[in-house]
Amino acid sequence: MINIPSIHDLELKGERVLCRFDFNVPIKDGVIRDDSRLTAALPTIEYLIEKKARIIMLSHLGRPKGERVEELSLFPVAMKLGELLGKEVKFVDGTIGDVVKDAVGRLEEGELLLLENTRFHPEEEENDPDFAWELASIASVYVDDAFGTAHRKHVSTYGVVGFFEKKAAGLLMLREIENLEKLLLDPPSPFTLILGGAKLETKIPVIKNLAPLVDNLLIGGGMAFGFLAKKGIDVGESLVDESLFPDIENIFSVLKQNEVKLILPVDAVITKELKEGAENKIVDIDNIPLEWKGVDIGPKTIEEFNSIIKESNTIFWNGPLGVYEVSPFGKGTYEVATAIGEVTKEGVLTVVGGGDTDKVIRDYSIDVVHLSTGGGASLRFLSGEELPAISVLK
Ligand code: 3PG
Repeated sequence: MINIPSIHDLELKGERVLCRFDFNVPIKDGVIRDDSRLTAALPTIEYLIEKKARIIMLSHLGRPKGERVEELSLFPVAMKLGELLGKEVKFVDGTIGDVVKDAVGRLEEGELLLLENTRFHPEEEENDPDFAWELASIASVYVDDAFGTAHRKHVSTYGVVGFFEKKAAGLLMLREIENLEKLLLDPPSPFTLILGGAKLETKIPVIKNLAPLVDNLLIGGGMAFGFLAKKGIDVGESLVDESLFPDIENIFSVLKQNEVKLILPVDAVITKELKEGAENKIVDIDNIPLEWKGVDIGPKTIEEFNSIIKESNTIFWNGPLGVYEVSPFGKGTYEVATAIGEVTKEGVLTVVGGGDTDKVIRDYSIDVVHLSTGGGASLRFLSGEELPAISVLK
């Protein structure tokens, strides 16, 4: 395993511990719509409480672009964490400055304080050394448990770390690394990679890095249509970004070199309009009429994907296979998720990336060996990239 210091090796009693979490949760009208990133952080928080640390929590929320944006305040997160922990979580309306120093000075052993959104300061994303120094000055120990943000080279994930002698990864960060590494280090074969969603760009490096280890690559979702179009299939109005054709060509040759079997959809659910209950039909993939677009994989594709899933011993899945959030275009995603849940019970190593896919797994209560809390971060990790927040802890 990547050799980084663990929170278990730190002396924490009475110490002021600055902890970076990823509390970037969906919030609407002050209400948290999905608290899974908060529950994922609880083991580390509870450990710090048990060890009687003075706990100063940091996170970003959304992309406020260096300005204060009221709807992106972390105040509702402090309230929700308090509810989940059954313990008061103090909140301070600032990330640095006297107001923060005062609040930190009043923290007793085992008490919790959440600072305001780090991204309200432009210096955070600029990785500004003065901002980093100021932030570091309030604590003696640094813990990073924000795997979901580990690919960002920001002050709170990177710049601040150099000011600490005592620093370590939190329990979630360690669990993420341990599980994602299983896919890179001798995964049981056959290994099936399932990719969907719209953004092919973010998945190209993953395909290239995993190709030597993977046996099957199943592609669905919006990104499948670029592959189909490149093969000369007329996909009607379906999503195709022709600027990615050279990359797709390159992927074809990487897969060939590594003897990876590529399985693209053979049929699709199509519609003219992407809205709830829109008129739709199922057609073979080379039969999509003009003005219609593919919005889900069809039944023959589901059957083919699921028979490969049943024969696999390792599976990594990232990206929905259709526009699952718009009914009735979620069937492909649901069926494949269910098949992954079934093989998990038989002992297959199943890992699912964050982003939209982790919501699918939770919405349908699917069992998997590891559900990552990081969307972009898990893809970058599996691309073989060293994530800044991890490398700086080494
Ligand atoms: C995420 O939700 O993927 C992380 O919290 C990182 O957020 P970001 O893409 O805005 O940096």
